[in-house]
Amino acid sequence: TTHRIAVIPGDGIGKEVVPAGIEALEATAGRFGLRLEFTDFGFASADYWQRHGTMLPADWEATLRGFDAIFFGAVGWPEVVPDHISLWGSLLQFRRTFDQYVNLRPCRLMPGVRSPLAGREPGDIDFLVVRENTEGEYSSVGGRIFEGTERETVLQETVMTRIGVDRVLRYAFEQAERRPRKHLTSATKSNGISISMPYWDERVAAMGERFPDVRVDRFHIDALAALFVLHPGRFDVVVASNLFGDILSDLGPACTGTLGIAPSANINPDGLHPSLFEPVHGSAPDIAGQGIANPVGQIWCGSMMLDHLGHPEAAAHLLGAIEDVLAHGPGGAPLTPDLHGKGTTAELGRAIAERVRER
Ligand code: NAI
Ligand code: MG
Repeated sequence: TTHRIAVIPGDGIGKEVVPAGIEALEATAGRFGLRLEFTDFGFASADYWQRHGTMLPADWEATLRGFDAIFFGAVGWPEVVPDHISLWGSLLQFRRTFDQYVNLRPCRLMPGVRSPLAGREPGDIDFLVVRENTEGEYSSVGGRIFEGTERETVLQETVMTRIGVDRVLRYAFEQAERRPRKHLTSATKSNGISISMPYWDERVAAMGERFPDVRVDRFHIDALAALFVLHPGRFDVVVASNLFGDILSDLGPACTGTLGIAPSANINPDGLHPSLFEPVHGSAPDIAGQGIANPVGQIWCGSMMLDHLGHPEAAAHLLGAIEDVLAHGPGGAPLTPDLHGKGTTAELGRAIAERVRER
């Protein structure tokens, strides 16, 4: 079968790292006899906004719906379009319309990458943050009353539905079940948030009964944040509500080194809608145009996309190629400046694609 991939490079270094991602994907596809068909789109960018006054064409949903996945760079160019417009006008539309209810961020300390945490070696940190991506604390239920008076009151409700909670928990448990350690950690705060978080805990316990092989524990979010920094090695799969997951999914990659290597995926696990794969970083206006952005985050996204499309061996092969090249260090591989090397985006991308063909 042929997988049809929509490619949206976006802005800034998105346009530089996406070609490196495609080069690595094509090398991997060649190696495993897969057929990937890439179609490029210029929308969801500041260029598009300047020409059309919107981030997306009116028929974007019908256009993208026909694809098996979306390979996304980064959007945002604050000089031209305010960030809230570029983000709400593109990426957040995709997440909601395509019901991408899982946000997935692997946190793995790669060889050759220095962790800001002292004394950590590659292999010490390897976990997955699963964030609920559509409801929870990020609801639009609420408002202000008695505005401008001393009784001014502001409310914003957390929304948890059984379907919404259970589907992200099921996904997280399935991930844990497939991994060697079979360990799931749930982020909670049921001591302070006394209605919604006990419900979350209750659903975790209920789902756990269906996955008897998975060992489950839970921590309050404050303690969990501390444990991420103090004992990152103890985690395997971490599942969290929208707000807690947002925080953990930035903290996790921060524990494993440069922003330039961290990948993420916005997934609709039911396969009813396309899923979207994007590096954690943004368009990096400060280094855009110099050809020195680290392409590893984007390439790693390619590996996650292959896994999602049902090719775990190809995905693991590509991730292995990234690790091999990073392990050679600035002396032996053209690592980019954020990894203390002198290589360019294109050189590092090519080295990984070559490694895919060799190993
Ligand atoms: P950023 O991630 O673009 O950059 C933060 C810092 O990390 C910069 O110093 C940058 O040079 C460095 N950096 C980022 N990616 C790198 C890479 N691959 N290689 C080497 N260094 C890298 O975040 P910032 O500056 O806050 O945002 C810039 C623009 O990107 C804004 O318009 C923002 O809204 C947008 N943005 C978009 C995201 C997305 O598309 N999902 C995510 C985050 C920001
Ligand atoms: Mg965040």
